[in-house]
Amino acid sequence: MERNDIQKVTHAPNIRYDKAEEALYIIDQTRLPNEEVFLRVETAEELYDAIRLLQVRGAPAIGIFAAYALYVLARQIPAEADVLAELKDRAAYLNSARPTAVNLGWALGEMVNEAEKSAALPRKELLEALYEKAAAIHDDDIAKCAAIAEYGLSLVKDGDGILTHCNAGPLATSQYGTALGPILLGTERGMTLRVFSDETRPLLQGARLTSYELERAGVDVTLICDNMASIVMKNGWVQACFVGCDRVAANGDTANKIGTSGVAILAKHYGIPFYVLGPTSTVDMNCPDGAHIPIEERNGDEIRTMWYEKPMALPEVKCYNPAFDVTDHDLITAIVTEKGICRPPYTESLAALFRAE
Ligand code: MRU
Repeated sequence: MERNDIQKVTHAPNIRYDKAEEALYIIDQTRLPNEEVFLRVETAEELYDAIRLLQVRGAPAIGIFAAYALYVLARQIPAEADVLAELKDRAAYLNSARPTAVNLGWALGEMVNEAEKSAALPRKELLEALYEKAAAIHDDDIAKCAAIAEYGLSLVKDGDGILTHCNAGPLATSQYGTALGPILLGTERGMTLRVFSDETRPLLQGARLTSYELERAGVDVTLICDNMASIVMKNGWVQACFVGCDRVAANGDTANKIGTSGVAILAKHYGIPFYVLGPTSTVDMNCPDGAHIPIEERNGDEIRTMWYEKPMALPEVKCYNPAFDVTDHDLITAIVTEKGICRPPYTESLAALFRAE
């Protein structure tokens, strides 16, 4: 596979702001892998739904999208209105779309801070400052993912098998991804890494997105059902687990896609290192531990009927459909950020990342 071909995956235009057109475009991730559909999203409801319905998803991508979305909404605020108050209302609305990924609130907070700093400027300049801030958040994530990919790559060697859960690739971020970043970077450099991708019930991010990205990038990827992780580990095919994160608490407890904690428990049983990879924008130092992370619960129809030609459960059957779970810090071998690799005790190593600023 040529580097150029891999770059079609690593640099996929999942979120694109066209400044000449003043238009925000996303790849609709709910239509992948069968259709590559680009959506222009503009109204408050469209922007909210894009997050809520997972048309744009993955913690860093949600943050980048929310920053541009708030700029789009800022442009729609009438000139005579109290711009700052209106902007805060719209930020609160977008922030209510999904609760777990801290990047959503983080990016919106950065945008509101920028608006506060620039509040005295004429409207045109204020809007320009907001656009620049959103673009900076986007560029910053590109740099962070590149650094995470380098650090992550130092944890594996040629020929290793890696198991991943959900999708933490380019689609979920800006470029390269977090958990998939080292794999894509290693592939670009001629390494052979064999990946096992959990399909990730119920929304199948592993089947629809991870195996799609890796297959297109020429990576040796094998799709497995979530309940097959144990056998591939027992077979000796997995040397490391790489997963992304939606919120890392100050003690290292980590929320990620439902099923991640089970993978970590299995990895501990088989003596396989379990790595969480994510930017510091996903670390929430105001959240002391996993018990304080809000966990999104979604409609049971995602389990009962979605993806099936016919419902696979009676409509009245009760469902419990949490979208995330928390992996206890003591199951995590290391947390890989753009600023370096944090090892236990995380209360110290994570705090040090922020002290260094
Ligand atoms: O519900 P999703 O698809 O947004 O959940 C995404 C995940 O859990 C990812 O692993 C996480 O956001 C990291 S993305 C780099």
